[in-house]
Amino acid sequence: MAGSIEKTRVDVGLGASGTEEIATHLNGYLANLQVLYVKLHNYHWNIEGDHFFTLHEVLEELYNSVAEEVDEVAERVLKIGHRPVGRLSDALKESTITEADNTGIGGAAIAKNLVADYRSLIDQLRSLIEVAGNHGDEGTADDAVGFLKDKEKQVWMLTAFGA
Ligand SMILES: [Fe+2]
Repeated sequence: MAGSIEKTRVDVGLGASGTEEIATHLNGYLANLQVLYVKLHNYHWNIEGDHFFTLHEVLEELYNSVAEEVDEVAERVLKIGHRPVGRLSDALKESTITEADNTGIGGAAIAKNLVADYRSLIDQLRSLIEVAGNHGDEGTADDAVGFLKDKEKQVWMLTAFGA
């Protein structure tokens, strides 16, 4: 993860070293969401086979939900006095989620790949909650718990689909 994170004038009283660590975690998560947003579109366009009609729609719901979350996470970074990842080139560098190939793909393979991606987001959110807790940042922890519950639901549904 890139070491440089820009500070702003905003100060909600959490202390500079704490917010820097939290914002770095938030930005890592944000970078993953930005890549996932494009990846979900890729699958929405390239899905082929039996599950086209079902998954085509589900993928649209998922990318719309990711789009809302991208904004919430970025604004959380700003609320704690730092600058969110705002460039795709940086998101690609910092993301651990990889892009999908631009090719036809079946529903089961999509579900399997997305379960792995959502699981990695869950891991990232659990560390974010821990780091936020260490610095008394209940606001970030509360946001992250909401995102976590959402991701757990998606893992459940995608796993049931792919089984
Ligand atoms: Fe569409």
